[in-house]
Amino acid sequence: MIELRGVSKTFQGKRRVEAVRDVSLTVEEGEIFGVIGFSGAGKSTLVRCINLLERPDAGEVLIKGRDLARLDGRELRASREDIGMIFQHFNLFPSRTVAGNIAFPLKYRHRSQAEIEKRVKELLALVGLDDKAEAYPSQLSGGQKQRVGIARSLASHPSILLCDEATSALDPQTTQSILSLLKELNKKLNLTMVVVTHEMPVIKSICTHAAVMDSGKIIEQGTVFDVFSNPQAQITKDFIATTSNLRKIQDLIDEDSPITRLKPGQILARFSYVGRNTVEALISTVSTLFNVKINIIFADLDIIRDTPIGGLINILEGEAEALKGAIQWMSDKGVRVEVIKHG
Ligand SMILES: Nc1ncnc2c1ncn2[C@@H]1O[C@H](COP(=O)(O)OP(=O)(O)O)[C@@H](O)[C@H]1O
Ligand SMILES: [Mg+2]
Repeated sequence: MIELRGVSKTFQGKRRVEAVRDVSLTVEEGEIFGVIGFSGAGKSTLVRCINLLERPDAGEVLIKGRDLARLDGRELRASREDIGMIFQHFNLFPSRTVAGNIAFPLKYRHRSQAEIEKRVKELLALVGLDDKAEAYPSQLSGGQKQRVGIARSLASHPSILLCDEATSALDPQTTQSILSLLKELNKKLNLTMVVVTHEMPVIKSICTHAAVMDSGKIIEQGTVFDVFSNPQAQITKDFIATTSNLRKIQDLIDEDSPITRLKPGQILARFSYVGRNTVEALISTVSTLFNVKINIIFADLDIIRDTPIGGLINILEGEAEALKGAIQWMSDKGVRVEVIKHG
């Protein structure tokens, strides 16, 4: 659906900024492809290269196999109709009603009044704003404004939707409702999406694939599951740490919390695993086999694309030999065991 080959974009101003450097990526039909990175990483520039709002200095942008840069004006306009876009600050016209905002791209393309009215009605229903047609943007909440933005972006039945920090101005609860809507539209309309964000929860909650961007380059990419379960780059690990509870245990140890105080013979350990094995059964089995008591004190489990991922922090108690055997047995079963502290 989307293929970037060696795309680069440099801005020449007072200082030269290589905003996007030699980026190649492929987005298949129906995927929700996330691009995550810190502010200034080049995400907005990259996503704007996909619909040629920015012209790359080098490389190719192929949409459904066609190189956008080679299209003439009329063909490029048609291709752009196939690509919707939504923004962090919604970019609505304050002087137009909700219906007027949604109708705008259709008016611009000289569709008939009857066609416009019918389509606006459909779009209002699609985003759950049937009763807001005559409201003005200033009368709407942030989430409702983004719903208008989404409706407007879908006016001409695009097959691709580009989302640039679309939830970054919203509170967490509203963010979730917009993400649910995007996910629903992805399924219902078979919409291919590129989601640019600096927030890991966004990636975790809706994306199928993710790329991590830093200083204009893609430094890591893959399925969201692979990126989360086996991050390679330090920056990816840092992003993941922002959404897991794992660091909390170190804080508790540092504070000498009663939860992490150990008696002699006890150890504090983390069992981490990725989906495939059922850790619950392993814990009760290893406990019986080795006569070791296991007290789960903390968990940072998550479900990513229907697969559990994460870990459990436990206090293990037993004979030294038994503990050793238990840890070895768990490792043999594919559970990673890290001993955090000895009593
Ligand atoms: N139109 C522009 N002119 C000059 N520099 C720009 C322009 N747009 C972006 N930049 C610069 O390119 C870099 C990447 O910006 P951007 O793509 O907005 O990153 P992000 O969206 O990840 O925050 C930044 O250093 C930014 O200042
Ligand atoms: Mg940006």
